[in-house]
Amino acid sequence: MILRAENVHKTYRLGHTELRILRGAGLAVADRESLAIIGMSGAGKSTLMHILGGLDRPDSGQVWIGDQELYAMRAARRTQLRATQLGFVFQSYHLLPEMDVLENVMLAGMASGSRDHTDLRRRGLALLGAVGLSERQAHRPMELSGGEQQRVALARALMNQPRLVLADEPTGNLDEVTGKHVLDHLFALTRDEGHALVLVTHDKRTAARCDRVLRLEDGLLVEA
Ligand SMILES: Nc1ncnc2c1ncn2[C@@H]1O[C@H](COP(=O)(O)OP(=O)(O)OP(=O)(O)O)[C@@H](O)[C@H]1O
Ligand SMILES: [Mg+2]
Repeated sequence: MILRAENVHKTYRLGHTELRILRGAGLAVADRESLAIIGMSGAGKSTLMHILGGLDRPDSGQVWIGDQELYAMRAARRTQLRATQLGFVFQSYHLLPEMDVLENVMLAGMASGSRDHTDLRRRGLALLGAVGLSERQAHRPMELSGGEQQRVALARALMNQPRLVLADEPTGNLDEVTGKHVLDHLFALTRDEGHALVLVTHDKRTAARCDRVLRLEDGLLVEA
């Protein structure tokens, strides 16, 4: 089991109103498994993904990556675990504008503590090749299309051979054809490299490409 969450609660307070977004959500993801999470806009999918990825502490409940409980460890250790075991792909690409494409990808490797520049470069170039961007390695992100930028973000997410990839509407900003192209890369790479995948999507057909589908509804995850 690469990911487990139990009884996760999260409430946002806006003035006097309480938004009870997560009300005991739980899930389990096996090694190499792909899981889709669907649900209405505002249901709390991104909130949940942040909690699963160690980016936002739940009010209560537990999250384990492998056998390590994410919010029971110190922040520095959580950061390290995130850098070495998890890969993130978001709706917006979050690439660093002042670095070129290859540097953006290699940076993820450096964040995980690797200092072997030759090896980082080799792996970065291989991943850019896998997403069809070998020719664009020296370009700045601004010089790429949205779909190309998201493929760079994908290469970056896979740089450290994470055990788990968390993707939150990775094609939300792309047209249908480009989005499918990015997803083809995402599924092929995670499958080939044996990463588990949790994918948030609005699209039923995309969800159906995963091994399993859960729906986030009324703060709980239920079989879809
Ligand atoms: N930091 C915050 N403070 C207050 N409310 C928040 C905060 N973050 C999210 N919310 C609220 O929590 C609810 C869930 O937001 P979230 O982004 O998790 O939904 P989502 O399911 O990802 O939606 P979408 O499909 O539109 O991306 C929304 O009503 C949102 O306004
Ligand atoms: Mg969201």
